[in-house]
Amino acid sequence: MAERWTPADIPDLSGRTAIVTGANKNLGFHTALELARHGADVTLACRRRERGERALTELRRRAPDASVRLGLLDLADLSSVERFAKEYAAEHTGLDILINNAGVLGIPRLLTADGHEMQFGVNYLGHFALTGRLLPLLKARPGARVVSLGTWIVKMMGRIDLDDLQSERAYDKFNAYNQAKLANLVFTRELARRYAGHGPAGVAAHPGFAASDLQYTGPRMEGSRFQEAFFKIPTRLFAKPTAAGAWPSLYAACAPGVEPGGCYAPTGLGEIWGPIGRVRTPAKIADPGLGPRLWDISERLAGVSYEAPVPETKEG
Ligand SMILES: NC(=O)c1ccc[n+]([C@@H]2O[C@H](COP(=O)([O-])OP(=O)(O)OC[C@H]3O[C@@H](n4cnc5c(N)ncnc54)[C@H](OP(=O)(O)O)[C@@H]3O)[C@@H](O)[C@H]2O)c1
Repeated sequence: MAERWTPADIPDLSGRTAIVTGANKNLGFHTALELARHGADVTLACRRRERGERALTELRRRAPDASVRLGLLDLADLSSVERFAKEYAAEHTGLDILINNAGVLGIPRLLTADGHEMQFGVNYLGHFALTGRLLPLLKARPGARVVSLGTWIVKMMGRIDLDDLQSERAYDKFNAYNQAKLANLVFTRELARRYAGHGPAGVAAHPGFAASDLQYTGPRMEGSRFQEAFFKIPTRLFAKPTAAGAWPSLYAACAPGVEPGGCYAPTGLGEIWGPIGRVRTPAKIADPGLGPRLWDISERLAGVSYEAPVPETKEG
């Protein structure tokens, strides 16, 4: 455990490339900002051009020497994931850091462009597809890391049901989120297992509880002012500042000694606050057969084969 690890401990990242999904605001923005401040060439992968451009302007204001660009990526549309990866591959020879940060929580049952349940599609499947499509670039950079976001709540709530990954039998907006986040943890472990020694290290991270828009998205979609006001209470009382919420992702991406397959998060009570270190993943996903089974289903649903031939890349 790094007792007092902060982004000041991030090494020089000059010459490294990074992608952060959902980088237009909050945790994703601060993750991208710190990577760029430390010299990485960072792509903000955002679903709306105007929001992404606003974030680029703000990031350049805070870090004038930053090498940053915008890439359009809608994780709720697998054709957008494919297009983003192709465009990225056309301009880069490798990828050192992929932060699968974007997420949605507690929304009404909606479907992605490909007909997948939205929370499963955005939090998990879109990122599974993105990682697979970027795999040749990740393999081109020794020591590359893929950081996927979990959450502290899955220790207490939620389960993964491979027969109902998209909550078709009964939809509960929080269970759907927890299942997608558990899938990210299983994916991370399986990625680490499959590519040990010859590919990117899968690492998971979660922020504890940080101020952001995450818990307001659902109430806003439902037009529930009461729920929105209700969620402000725990945020005011317990949430850490937004910037600090990015630290576990940054630690997982940059700190030395990070173990593939591990999850990095605040190590204090309930994993909400405290110094960042490795935390245990929930016992409910301990079954080693879960990873390979989830992987097969995901390849089929995402239409992505991780062993597809390496696409040609240009010098960049
Ligand atoms: N904040 C916490 O306490 C907390 C706790 C546990 C885990 N997490 C995880 O941390 C990550 C960051 O969350 P946050 O707290 O910063 O939430 P947030 O403020 O709601 O930001 C979510 C980000 O995801 C993007 N996004 C949503 N749907 C997308 C899609 N279809 N395609 C591409 N991007 C999409 C959003 O873009 P738009 O602005 O366009 O909507 C936004 O940039 C999430 O994975 C979340 O589950 C956060």
